[in-house]
Amino acid sequence: MSLLPSWPEPIVRVQTLSKSGIRKIPRRFVKPPSDRPCNIMDITTTSINIPLIDLENLNSPNDSVRQETIDHISHVCREWGFFQVANHGISHELMEKTRAVWHEFFQLPLEEKQKFANLPMTYEGYGSRIGVEVGAKLDWCDYFFLHYLPQVLKNENKWPCLPVSCRKVISEYGEELVTLSRRLIKILSIGLGLNEDYVHKSFGGDGESSACLRVNFYPKCPQPDLTLGLSPHSDPGGITILLPDTNISGLQIRRGNNWFTVNPIPNAFIVNIGDQIQVLSNAIYKSVEHRVIASSNKERLSLAFFYNPGGRALIKPADELVTKDCPALYSPMTFNEYRSFMRTKGPSGKSQIESHKSPR
Ligand code: OGA
Ligand code: NI
Repeated sequence: MSLLPSWPEPIVRVQTLSKSGIRKIPRRFVKPPSDRPCNIMDITTTSINIPLIDLENLNSPNDSVRQETIDHISHVCREWGFFQVANHGISHELMEKTRAVWHEFFQLPLEEKQKFANLPMTYEGYGSRIGVEVGAKLDWCDYFFLHYLPQVLKNENKWPCLPVSCRKVISEYGEELVTLSRRLIKILSIGLGLNEDYVHKSFGGDGESSACLRVNFYPKCPQPDLTLGLSPHSDPGGITILLPDTNISGLQIRRGNNWFTVNPIPNAFIVNIGDQIQVLSNAIYKSVEHRVIASSNKERLSLAFFYNPGGRALIKPADELVTKDCPALYSPMTFNEYRSFMRTKGPSGKSQIESHKSPR
């Protein structure tokens, strides 16, 4: 990987900028007019209810209820690439506790957070940019990134140590989300007509599959029309399970040429397909472009949990999904190699998965 040992430019914490009371955002955050959220072609104010799946139905004693739920998930992965899940088995109390410890972390004095400042080699820790390109336009967001899996990468010493309860809560949250992810990738495999453990095995199984968390903190922004909280991208990995902020919306998904604001449902998670599942499914399931808009009146906190292939797993379209009529759309690539693109260039729409298409 051609990643730099340090950031190419001094890091400025967005939260510090926000708190300083500036009326104008620095030029580094001002997007070109075509990338701004109020671009005349966009319908940014339109909100959308993405499909809601009741996961309790997967435990139904009635075969047809279970099958209908699997079919519904399979359908939304093809048509939407995004869905929300309710009755997902994770206690609402744990969801709230996890949110609360991260709110507390971001409210700590800067010096406390700086102890965890991250570097582009691994991205672990407290960060304020994705990508290392000199002069790149930046997003209005700080974040914290940490690993849960594989076990060798889990290092609680790199996690926040304040508030005192936080390592325990963060760890418990991770365990629950790994369980939910594994349930979901089974359903995704079945929905593609594959063996139920197909995705799990392709990702490297119990020992190698990876799981990580990015906690995004979007401070108040004095000029939200000129910038973005997070630029358009598709998630490079397997699946993402997002715990959004229910006090303020901000996540937008792209459908056609329009951006729609997602209405988060209290106590539900938002699930989306990442590029590796698009590759593995030979583009039957879609990893959909999304972005986050900034806000002038409320800060926003979201927890993005990524369930991914192991770094060395070679991901390619499943043989069963490659036919004469549907030839393999992508050539095999390890996840480490694939991910280095975003870690170098930062969020860039769907350009990477598009350029990864096999030549015809
Ligand atoms: C991400 C992401 C959305 C949000 O972290 O990849 O898309 O609502 N986050 O913060
Ligand atoms: Ni994302």
